[in-house]
Amino acid sequence: MRAYMAGTGRFLPPDVLTNADFVRMVDTSDEWIVGHTGIRTRHIARTVKNADMAEAAARAAMENAGCAPADIDMVVVSTVTPDRAYPSLACDLQNRLGLPDVFCLDVSAACSGFIYAVDLAARHILTGGARTALVVSSEKLTPTVDYTDRASCILFGDGAGAVVLKGDERQGGGWLGSLLAARGDDGAALQCVPGGRIKMDGHEVFRFAVRVMPEVIEKLLARAGRAVSDCKFIIPHQANLRIIKAVQRRYALPEEKMVVTIDRYGNMSSACIPIALDELNRAGRLEPGDLLLAVGFGAGFTYGATLFEWSE
Ligand code: UT7
Repeated sequence: MRAYMAGTGRFLPPDVLTNADFVRMVDTSDEWIVGHTGIRTRHIARTVKNADMAEAAARAAMENAGCAPADIDMVVVSTVTPDRAYPSLACDLQNRLGLPDVFCLDVSAACSGFIYAVDLAARHILTGGARTALVVSSEKLTPTVDYTDRASCILFGDGAGAVVLKGDERQGGGWLGSLLAARGDDGAALQCVPGGRIKMDGHEVFRFAVRVMPEVIEKLLARAGRAVSDCKFIIPHQANLRIIKAVQRRYALPEEKMVVTIDRYGNMSSACIPIALDELNRAGRLEPGDLLLAVGFGAGFTYGATLFEWSE
């Protein structure tokens, strides 16, 4: 039995904020933002709800996978910015997509959410609990952004990414495992109280990220008996280009191996990784057998990595 990615999708809301827009809002400059973060533009959901973005990404992934609503027997959504506290975004999505009465659950693991959600869905498939799982990471962060705090407001954007995970009886390939972790005692470094704004100690988050990302990459690859050099792409959470570059330098990786979208989209929390994956897929850059590693960290702190072989 294997669980493999059968299709991907994404949605980015149409409105865009450029660095020039921030120069009009706070005391900053294009040079500072690009130099310290790598970000040039980010999309913002002015007119769409989180559920609208999740639905659009999910439909795109289902179409890409060639699967009908009746095929889906599990929905896992990762989000820290649902439109309402409950019912879950997963139940909302089930209703919007006309899915049968299936397992629907929201996961709250901040920027590591996609990695956690894929783990849940893949394990469910591998133990016979589901055959076709829809995994969606959808984040409408911008209403929680404090647009008077120049150190954090420039970082965030909105968007949604989705994958369809399928199970079949073939051996090998597909999802190869993940490593998930959290460190709750550092929770105050990055938080948002209900109805509130993002509060962040940027230095602390930065330090944590550059320490744990290589740690989980190495542990997961060692467990799978693979090396960093075996990976076709590493898809990191997109929080800061300098964090991504630090990982790249540590393994002396060629630039094209590290997937970067932060320049165009900023940090969309858990949506970053599946959106990047969908871009690779739709650009025809993935071939069966390609080894892909996604790695992330976020509020909690949560962190983790997931490894899979692209399969047909
Ligand atoms: O998904 C996880 C979410 N969060 C993160 O990943 C955040 C990780 N941390 C970071 O990305 C970086 O720490 C930041 C981008 C938040 C900040 O970059 P930095 O290079 O660590 O800057 P800094 O905080 O050390 O600030 C340097 C200077 C300060 O001025 P002084 O005290 O040296 O005079 C800041 O006040 O830059 C100033 N500054 C700015 N200047 C122009 C801070 N933000 C801005 C700004 N424009 N937007």
